[in-house]
Amino acid sequence: MNTRSNRMQIFSDNLSDLNIMVLSWKEKNEVVGFIPTMGNLHEGHLSLIRKIKEFGATKTIVSIYVNPKQFGPGEDYAKYPRTLDGDIKLLEKVNVDCVFCPSDKEIYPPNVESQVMINKLDLMDELCGKYRPGHFDGVLLVVNRLLSIIQPNIAIFGQKDYQQYVLIKNMVRQLIIPTEILMAPIIRENDGLAMSSRNSYLNSNQRSKAIHLYKSLISARKKIRENKIDCKSILRTEIERLNKIGLSVDYLEIRTSDDLSSVKEYKKKNDEYVLLGAVKLGKTRLIDNIIL
Ligand code: PAJ
Repeated sequence: MNTRSNRMQIFSDNLSDLNIMVLSWKEKNEVVGFIPTMGNLHEGHLSLIRKIKEFGATKTIVSIYVNPKQFGPGEDYAKYPRTLDGDIKLLEKVNVDCVFCPSDKEIYPPNVESQVMINKLDLMDELCGKYRPGHFDGVLLVVNRLLSIIQPNIAIFGQKDYQQYVLIKNMVRQLIIPTEILMAPIIRENDGLAMSSRNSYLNSNQRSKAIHLYKSLISARKKIRENKIDCKSILRTEIERLNKIGLSVDYLEIRTSDDLSSVKEYKKKNDEYVLLGAVKLGKTRLIDNIIL
């Protein structure tokens, strides 16, 4: 299907038409910017579109695909919110040039490699990878497929999923994929909660508690910067506080901001570290991070 809604092209199963469109753009020296999403779009997603234009994209392609391979057994694949009609209306409003909403058979045709062949970083199994085994294998697989299909000049990912960004950047470097990978800041609700499609799972009691993840990150950052006591005990105190409130902490860690490697000793310098956290509120898993 290739439909035209006003000026926005929508592709789902005709990949060669999509390729021809991208090639014709490149021939005219357009800079093709790609924003992969799983849909149920919110202001965080829309900010990526604005950002990629600031980075120089003159044409924008948004993909909407709920990737089954990045959800583990028992996770929320079946109930993940699917709001394609509303998403398309939103994307039209912000003047996106093309939406790619494939079905499983375009992304995973039979007999294609089901793994990305790269040297695996330990990071794949750390932080979120430890609590969601196989998740990042699924993310890399779909992003690799999407980049091969679209062949954009640049692609943008949110800082919200910092580990995802670092792992994608590493994959692109290892496979020499000719797409520049960019990162955009986290967009938050008025009270500071990072926007996420999963926030809609929270009931009002959980919603009021959810903000404490961000509060803990801010409070830990302040204490670490003031260097009052050592990092580990600062983070331990915040983990205890969160667990007491009823946010079950998967992790709260300080890592280097370039490759998320472990930090033994914090030394004061700007933008070298990131504080990352993941909690569960009932069945809903929330993640957030801030640069130190
Ligand atoms: P999804 O969760 O839909 O997010 C799509 C992009 O939006 C990601 O790059 C994510 O980091 C970014 N994003 C989400 N919430 C944000 C916020 N509050 N502020 C800024 N950016 C935000 O991430 C995925 O989908 C998938 O894993 C995907 C990369 C599409 C592969 O399936």
